[in-house]
Formats: sequence, structure tokens, C-alpha cells
Amino acid sequence: MQSTESLFENIRKDFPILTRKVRDNKSLVYLDNASTTQKPNQVIDAITDYYRNHNANIHRAVYALAEESTEAYETARDKIANFVNVKNRQELIFVRGTTEAINLVAYAWGRPHINEGDIIVTTEYEHHSNIVPWQLLTQEKRAKLEYIGMDDDGQLILDDLDKYLATGKVKLVTFSLMSNVLGTITDAEKIIEKCKAAGVPTLIDGAQAVPHMKVDLDTLGCDFFAFSGHKMLAPTGIGVLWVRKSVLQTMSPFHGGGDMIREVHKYETTWNDLPYKFEAGTPNIADVIGFGAAIDYLTKIGMDNVRQHEIELTKYAIEEFSKVPGLKIYGTKDITKRGGVISFNFADVHPHDVAQIIDEQGIALRSGHHCAQVLMERLDVAATSRASFYIYNTKKDVDALIDSLNTVAKVFKL
Ligand code: ALA
Repeated sequence: MQSTESLFENIRKDFPILTRKVRDNKSLVYLDNASTTQKPNQVIDAITDYYRNHNANIHRAVYALAEESTEAYETARDKIANFVNVKNRQELIFVRGTTEAINLVAYAWGRPHINEGDIIVTTEYEHHSNIVPWQLLTQEKRAKLEYIGMDDDGQLILDDLDKYLATGKVKLVTFSLMSNVLGTITDAEKIIEKCKAAGVPTLIDGAQAVPHMKVDLDTLGCDFFAFSGHKMLAPTGIGVLWVRKSVLQTMSPFHGGGDMIREVHKYETTWNDLPYKFEAGTPNIADVIGFGAAIDYLTKIGMDNVRQHEIELTKYAIEEFSKVPGLKIYGTKDITKRGGVISFNFADVHPHDVAQIIDEQGIALRSGHHCAQVLMERLDVAATSRASFYIYNTKKDVDALIDSLNTVAKVFKL
């Protein structure tokens, strides 16, 4: 049997961009996967094949190309549903990404369900996309937005949730399954159990989790779940919102237009079946098909292998980072409670300076607030540097990063 390490070494050849030279002929070391992942040939080819051979609009015509296009689009929906164990494909809606999915819920579920004095609960380590839509909604409805706090190990303080639930006013609890800054894996089962006991629905932002571990929506028990394709080898501009059917049936449409209707008359309209009621207009057909190819690719590797690879890499990285004087890592060091995202600061060097010096060595990582300014306030920092791993990263990439951090130390005389 192939070892996990050689399996992951071998897949690098599927990613053409990884052979790129950047900045003065340096080999690219791509460590910004929490932001977006690179694409394998299998995904690039699926999109090219669609445009070269099958391009036509879906759900509208009976000619051969239209049938092929519709079939490929709906097959991708089935693949994605299977991947996260959704039994009812009517519950799986294509959107542009996690941000659009959460805005859809805030609009189409939130507006009819949230009233003055109600509480929506989120957490201190959310991405802006799971904060701002709720600020807009609660401000419009004169409702309140509250936060589950975080301890110094990057874990949520669930006593805060108990306190809010006890008011009887909470109408939604929303949280990310994995923090995009700290890598903390949220104890979703515990939160859902508490919310279910209180009769409160839950929304999960799965953007950082679904690409990195097995997620089973049939057993998880939440009510809304969102994730994006581009963080898991698929193109940008395509993502998924899953909503439990009993909840979906209580929701108003989000966008009005073609394909989401059954009949339109001068003054009234009836809606198409689920999920099409929520997919107005010509969708992003090619990228849905590309998403299906990404799912095939990850399925072949196996999500348990993906998780195991990232555990090994992150463990190695944390050990090596700990040997660099002056380097502070945020979040837990307990590898079972975190994914392959490591945020750090280096003495008092600004993260942008760190990123710039590292970039000269061909290493791509993100610096800044990572669209999580509430978390930056909690950590009492303006910004961090962040390295984030995916299936094609190896220990050699970590070594290259450590070497370049030593260069930063020399430049700044640390
Ligand atoms: N959500 C992306 C990130 O964390 C953009 O970088």
C-alpha cells in the first residue's frame, strides 16, 4: 500500500501551478489555502471540456447540448450531496459561495422570522461573512446580535451560549465549524445539542471545514450549512447552501427571475420546486461541473487521508515554529482540536513586512486581519501572518517557510 506521504507527494504533479517560478526564479511554495486552493488538471479539464463540447443553458431546452449540460450540472449536485451525506438533493442549493449562502439565509429566512427583541448568537472567531449579514438583519429588525466568547486557547466559552439561550429570546445560533484564523475546530455537536434542547435552529459556516475533514450533514443535526468550492480545489464563484427541507419550506425566495418560477402572471407568481426556487437566473454551470470534478478528486484520495495528512503537517509545523525565537502562534497546540491553519506574529515585526520578505523567497502566505476583525480585537492585535495547508503541501514547504522566517529574523536583527 502507498504511504500517505508518498500519496500526497505524487498528487503535486496534478497541479500545474505548483511548477511555477515566481520572484527571481524561486519555486512557488503556496501556503494560502484558507484563502483559496489551487486547481488540479482534472478540474481545469472538466471546465474546458464543458465549454469546448457541451456549452448550453440548462433546464430550458430539449436539444442535445442542453440535455448534456443539464445532466452534467445535476450530476454534480448529486456528487456534492453524497460527499457531505445529504440524502435529499432538493435541500442543496447552488450559490456563489459561503458569503452568498449566509446572506441568502439572513434575507430569505431571517426577514420573515426575526422580530424586535430577538437575539441572534454568533461567535468571536467568525469571518466577516458570518457577522455582517447578521448585523444588517438585527439592525433592520431592532433585534440583538450576541457573541459566544473565546478563551486564550482559542476554544469557545459555551457558558456564554447557555446564558443567551436561557433568555428564551434566541432565534438562531450561527458559527463556523473551523476558524479561518486559528484553525480551531468547533465542538458543533455540543452546540447543536444545546440549541436543539432550547428549540433554536443552527447555521454552520463550513467553508474552512468541508475541504479538510469528513462532514456528515445527515448526522450533524444543524439546520443550515454553507461551504464554498474554491477552498476545495473547485473554481471560485460556486458554493453550496444546504437547508433542512422543513426549514426551507418556510423560506421566501431570495432572488426573483427565470428558473425559480412555475407560473408568472401580471401580478402574481408561483414558485418552482426546491431547490430551483432558490436558483434564479442562468447559474454558474461550468463551475458547478468543475466542483463535481473536485469532489471526484477528493473522494479518490479519501477525506480521512486528507485530515491525517494535515494533522501530520500541522504537528510538524507547530514543532518547527516553536523553535523560532520570538515567534508567537495563536490558538490551541492540541492537534486534535485544530486544522491546518497557523496564525502567528514574529516579535514586533508587522505581518505585512513578514509576508513581503517571505514572498521574495517565493512563499505565498496571507497577512492582515483575515476578514476577522472581531477576532483581531479579541486577540488584541491589528493583524497576523497566516500559513494554511492543503493536500499538495509537504514538510519541505514547512522547511522553506522556517528558513525564510530565519531570514526575517536576520533582517530585523531579532
Ligand atoms: N475567507 C478567506 C480567508 O480566510 C478569504 O482568507
